Amino acid sequence: VKYLPQELILIKRSGKALTHDQIQEFLEAYLSGLVEEYQMSAFLMAVFFRGFSAEELTQWTQTMVSTGERLGICTTTCIDKHSTGGVGDKTSFLIAPIAAVCGCQVPMLSGRALGHTGGTLDKLEAIPGVRIPDSVEGIEKLVEKHGFCFGGTTRSMAPLDKKLYALRDVTGTIESTDLIASSIMSKKLAENLKGLVMDIKVGDGAFMKTPEQARNLLEKIQMIAKSNRIRLKGVISDMSQPLGHYLGLRPEIYEVLMAFQNKAESRLMELSLELASKMLLVAGLEQDESAAKVKVESALMSGRAYQKFCEVIEAQGGDISTFENPEFYLSSKHHFEILSPRSGYISRISTEKLGYVFSALGAGRKNISDTIIPQVGAKVSKKIGDSVVAGEPLLTGFLAEIPSQILQSQLAGCFEIGDVKVSAPELVIERF
Ligand code: URA
Repeated sequence: VKYLPQELILIKRSGKALTHDQIQEFLEAYLSGLVEEYQMSAFLMAVFFRGFSAEELTQWTQTMVSTGERLGICTTTCIDKHSTGGVGDKTSFLIAPIAAVCGCQVPMLSGRALGHTGGTLDKLEAIPGVRIPDSVEGIEKLVEKHGFCFGGTTRSMAPLDKKLYALRDVTGTIESTDLIASSIMSKKLAENLKGLVMDIKVGDGAFMKTPEQARNLLEKIQMIAKSNRIRLKGVISDMSQPLGHYLGLRPEIYEVLMAFQNKAESRLMELSLELASKMLLVAGLEQDESAAKVKVESALMSGRAYQKFCEVIEAQGGDISTFENPEFYLSSKHHFEILSPRSGYISRISTEKLGYVFSALGAGRKNISDTIIPQVGAKVSKKIGDSVVAGEPLLTGFLAEIPSQILQSQLAGCFEIGDVKVSAPELVIERF
């Protein structure tokens, strides 16, 4: 090796920038096991405190991509949507088929639930029979034939991200905007996209708690997108309360089925349609937002998006006869209500805590190897700004067991109720 790992750690620790060559060699050596986990841990902590320069960030991300396989879908309309994660976010299930029927190629590659947030791949597997393509060729075939697929980054795509993410998770280095931006973008660049729509979540239930943090992440993502000539659009959107009314794997699929009938919460519909419209813009299929909106609304309302959704779920092995009885997705051993202790208005929902409590009840995982109980989840009946009468349900839990007194009081404590009506938070905080 040309450089000793400890030399590079010292450079970063002192706040100086590494050269292209140094970054590439360091990451390649780490991937092949020549740099120890403890050395990479120290380096990541230095990055957490010192950050990357624009050049370092680009090179770091580039090496994460070039050390793995990339998709070979080379059409100009190959695009994706990515959300930074939250609670109750099920927009991908609507957006991918809508964009596909409008002419985009969408390798919708998503992640797993971790911490308090849900994962699209887990929700997908809650549909009986669904298989997730495990190779680049498998993804390409589905997208070429159907216009989209629901997948995840395969073992061979951005392999460094898997290694680095697992290490960051146990070394207190997840919350670095440079490392988050490079992690997200390495997976998106491995898809060989021409355009990307980002939904950067902000608020209590998101990783980014303030609009400033969200803007900071956006800047880094814009920088990486620009240097890779990827057209980028998107929103910074509210995650101070769950999106939609349902959370948990199967309960969220239930809400998706309702959304295809235009019977879901208006915020969920609004955000899905806005993100889908932006996909047509980044794909170059429409030039202005209102024309794109008309097209995506028609794809949804005509039932064509739902047909496409069923076509792809079936192609991936899913039993679409379960969609004929959506209540199947709400069946759990126990239904348990949390009632409002008083009358008033919902002023705040501790969304992160809600996510953690349901994760503990079986709807999420603490470690990546944990299994999730697909039936577990909730209907959140009251959202911020809603009026509530004492004794009305705030939330109905779909559970495998009756929650302990501690969990019950934690759930009740997720809702703050005041005397004064507050307005619902703005859904879209910023558009770009
Ligand atoms: N999502 C990712 O893909 N990577 C991160 O580092 C954080 C969120």
